[in-house]
Amino acid sequence: MAERNAFVCGYPIKHSRSPVIHGYWLKQYGIAGSYRAIEVTPGDFPEFLAGMARQGLVGGNITLPHKQAALDLVDEADAPARKIGAVNTVWLEGGRLRGTNTDWLGFAASMDASAPGWDRAGKAVILGAGGAARGILYALASRGMTGTTLVNRTVARASALAEAFAPTVGRACGWDELPAALAGADLVINTTSVGMDGGAEAMVDLDPVAAGAIVSDIVYVPLETPLLREARIRDLRIVDGLGMLLHQAAPGFERWFGVRPQVTDSLRQAVLDDLVRAS
Ligand code: ATR
Repeated sequence: MAERNAFVCGYPIKHSRSPVIHGYWLKQYGIAGSYRAIEVTPGDFPEFLAGMARQGLVGGNITLPHKQAALDLVDEADAPARKIGAVNTVWLEGGRLRGTNTDWLGFAASMDASAPGWDRAGKAVILGAGGAARGILYALASRGMTGTTLVNRTVARASALAEAFAPTVGRACGWDELPAALAGADLVINTTSVGMDGGAEAMVDLDPVAAGAIVSDIVYVPLETPLLREARIRDLRIVDGLGMLLHQAAPGFERWFGVRPQVTDSLRQAVLDDLVRAS
């Protein structure tokens, strides 16, 4: 088989860990292929996608700020991508550019691996109502979960998402109602960028949550966010954001290179080492 070349494209792109993940798998499975980071400005993005075949690229990942634009630019976006409103994985098939979104699969797989039974939560609370929240909600919907509470700084955004994802979301409210929303919660998921880069002290008081609750954060820099630190101190079950990053990469790799890769502890360590080197 001819060497297959894939990419991750964003603007800026230097923070992407995807080349480490896919490079690790290419080596591990002895595949003659490449995966490289390509910086593309929003203005150049349509032309970049249209020129993939000409550049010898079979597919790739799309990251910020192009995920929403990609939805309109691919020839065919599948149902998850359309519902989430973003494409993070593309590939050429029969001369057509196809797109999907694997963030929701990555989240569900990471939760399955680290907190099995998470999808049987009786009272789930999601913090945030941006693009990332849509992916998480799609994952919850795929497991038939209903009645989740969505808490967001901008209430109107949470309400709009609640409407789009009913009955997965049962209630939308503002940050001021967070303590009440958390009362008795057994699953708490942060989808906001709050807590990134070590920032402020814990933004969330986890006192009201149920004993043994699962607390998950999609942020992975730092790996232990203020929310997860709060959770650890209270002896709650923790799922960090790195698992989602690793698991969302697997379906794309399989599409481009034909091998379903495994998410292992040594892959996780390779990415952690890279994060330390970059810090
Ligand atoms: P993403 O695609 O990563 O979800 P986004 O669409 O910009 O990014 O959404 C960011 C989320 O983090 C939103 O829910 C945002 O709240 P608003 O809708 O009120 O803007 C939330 N967020 C970002 N900074 C925040 C802060 N300092 N405090 C509370 N919420 C914050």
